[in-house]
Amino acid sequence: GDGRLVDPFQREYYYLRLSVTDMCNFRCNYCLPDGYQPESVRSGFLSLHEIRRLVRAFSELGAEKVRLTGGEPTLRKDFLAIAETVRAQSGITQLALTTNGYRMAKDVQNWQRAGVTSINVSVDSLNPNVFHAITGVDKFADVMRGIEKAFEVGYQKIKVNAVLMKEWNEKEFDLFLAWIKDKPIQMRFIELMQTGEMDHFFHRHHLSGQLLAEKLRQNGWQQQAKSYLDGPAKVFRHPDYCGEVGLIMPYEKNFCASCNRLRVSAKGKLHLCLFGEEGIDLRDLLQSDEQNSLLQTRISAALQGKREHHFLHQGDSGVRNHLASIGG
Ligand code: GTP
Ligand code: 5AD
Ligand code: SF4
Repeated sequence: GDGRLVDPFQREYYYLRLSVTDMCNFRCNYCLPDGYQPESVRSGFLSLHEIRRLVRAFSELGAEKVRLTGGEPTLRKDFLAIAETVRAQSGITQLALTTNGYRMAKDVQNWQRAGVTSINVSVDSLNPNVFHAITGVDKFADVMRGIEKAFEVGYQKIKVNAVLMKEWNEKEFDLFLAWIKDKPIQMRFIELMQTGEMDHFFHRHHLSGQLLAEKLRQNGWQQQAKSYLDGPAKVFRHPDYCGEVGLIMPYEKNFCASCNRLRVSAKGKLHLCLFGEEGIDLRDLLQSDEQNSLLQTRISAALQGKREHHFLHQGDSGVRNHLASIGG
């Protein structure tokens, strides 16, 4: 691309992660253990028109990929209209979705017709009981059926996310590998991040992905080159496996050097990073099509304040955003 979104460290931004709702119907222990709590004062999430104006501005600034996140994005009643609208903006060639998968078996064909080009779905355990214990819902079988259905309707690869947690799924690494032996799944292991108010949980369960990386290399897995539109996962392949392994290691040195994405929350705040800042409100400039150039100016100007690194290494300094409210 020939993007115009460049930060002071010469990183270019082609990838917008757009949260469309904070709501979620799962209660993942690392994310929303008590479930989604609606705020007492509800200003509502961005409307379809606000989303259209936002994505138009980003696409004119060079964005080529939009990921719809949440919360659970498919809980929006107008989810299909959102997908169609985003995909219809010229220049947006990839429309990705991150979902918990609870409706995937039923709806994946509609998602595809609406223009969703790739899907990331969470499966934190392959044991139905452990899955239930982690997510708070008994939906393992539904999610598995959803993945199969996605292949049936024509998705050629699905990315599956598992957050690494010591006492929950550390032992399942080999099971996950066996699962993807003959399936075109990119199985991603994500280092637990210290978000929201979960310090105790974090210290108890955090695992580094470095050991997994070494184990993969020792067993003949080879790291793959990346495209400029890819997310932060280090991707590995093995000649005997149909599937791939991805490692997302935000605590690794230099993780942020290849940052290529900006975030907008469900209420219209621009977040330059998942961690470390409050967000810049864009919503007042999403009220009419005539505000497009002012909006673009605000986004470009904000980007000049982007920091070199996230604040995860520095314990309590910086803002620790909740992933369900900032779209992961
Ligand atoms: P693709 O490569 O486009 O599939 O994207 P992705 O891996 O970023 O998408 P997904 O929504 O599946 O995110 C997987 C995990 O990566 C989530 O836990 C995200 O919070 C995390 N992640 C994505 N981008 C960043 C980032 O910029 N910083 C940090 N710290 N974590 C990120
Ligand atoms: N640490 C790491 N990953 C997280 N996710 C949510 N909260 C956390 C956290 N604290 C992941 C989910 C999902 C993705 C969108 O974000 O597992 O795969
Ligand atoms: Fe919902 Fe995703 Fe958070 Fe789980 S990780 S509670 S599915 S937003």
